[in-house]
Amino acid sequence: MKYTRTEIIGCGHYLPSKVLTNDDLSKMVDTNDEWISTRTGIRSRHVVEEGELTSDMALNAANIALENANMTAQDIDLVVVATLTPDNTTPSVAAKVAGRLGVKPGTPAFDLGAACSGFVYSMTMVDNMIRLGQIKTALVIGVESLSKIVDWTDRNTCVLFGDGAGAVVVRAKEGEGLSSDTGVLATKIYADGTQYDSLGTDGGVSSTKTAGFVHMNGKEVFKYAVGAMCEACDAVLSQANISTKEVDWLLPHQANIRIISSVGQKLEVPDEKVIVTVDHHGNTSAASIPLALSESVQAGKIKKGDLVLIPAMGAGFTWGGLLIRY
Ligand code: ACO
Repeated sequence: MKYTRTEIIGCGHYLPSKVLTNDDLSKMVDTNDEWISTRTGIRSRHVVEEGELTSDMALNAANIALENANMTAQDIDLVVVATLTPDNTTPSVAAKVAGRLGVKPGTPAFDLGAACSGFVYSMTMVDNMIRLGQIKTALVIGVESLSKIVDWTDRNTCVLFGDGAGAVVVRAKEGEGLSSDTGVLATKIYADGTQYDSLGTDGGVSSTKTAGFVHMNGKEVFKYAVGAMCEACDAVLSQANISTKEVDWLLPHQANIRIISSVGQKLEVPDEKVIVTVDHHGNTSAASIPLALSESVQAGKIKKGDLVLIPAMGAGFTWGGLLIRY
């Protein structure tokens, strides 16, 4: 029986040229490379220069993804941008990027706010729209300028985050409904609003009329993240009737090496199959998964036909999983 799948046909990423190393941070706050790298696995992160906007990074990643997909902006039926750091409160980054790219006027475009789970949420929405036949192609971008909402005097948080963008172009494709199909094989998303105060910003438009700075209960986030990401992985594997042993790559949201390693260990995925970019990107929230995907494809690690298991967890709490045969 024919079955519509959502296939990734091109990816791209962009990182600002300015790099902040742990040593650079040690000149700004009371910290050191040893503390940061052992606790988080982060050694450096990219940050935007003054005047470089979220939409600029998104546009750069999108152009590369379109080129790799051999498509033009005119071919796109939907633009979704996962971000918590838009240029303006409104309109959306997606609308701005669509306009600058030359997407046909009338094409829907929206931002999706699910923090670090934003890319997984976006792919889930897009996969559903493609399978319903509402659209055939979409541009899905994860992008963040977290350096703008980090308190650079707070060593508890400023060492953790970075800026960047990743993008994918997806297209409807007829599959067989089998796990050997290429494309999105399963998705699952969740939220638990009782954890609203565990991770987020301490301000916002309606509460403080500012964007606020990132705050979190690090230990609570750590414990919850490992369980939530494993739950999401189990759900998508069981939906697709696939065992963890068949997975070629575990590509988790890049928050912290200890969270990533714990998820890998619990799922019994060997270290060499776990994609890690947090060492040179830091935590880029909604951008981290498409950034890591694009970098891994470009490096020849993830190849056509590879089975990629993608869990994410972030503020809300939100979490979820994607199972994709690339
Ligand atoms: N440099 C040096 N010392 C530091 C720093 C720093 N950058 N930050 C905190 N410390 C100090 C603290 O002040 C504390 O000192 P004290 O004992 O004198 O009070 C000490 O280090 C220990 O602090 P803890 O918070 O207990 O450190 P912990 O081992 O829990 O590590 C961390 C903190 C890395 C944030 C950890 O809780 C963690 O991994 N949490 C997961 C959360 C995460 O990664 N969030 C990212 C965003 S969420 C997401 O994307 C899912």
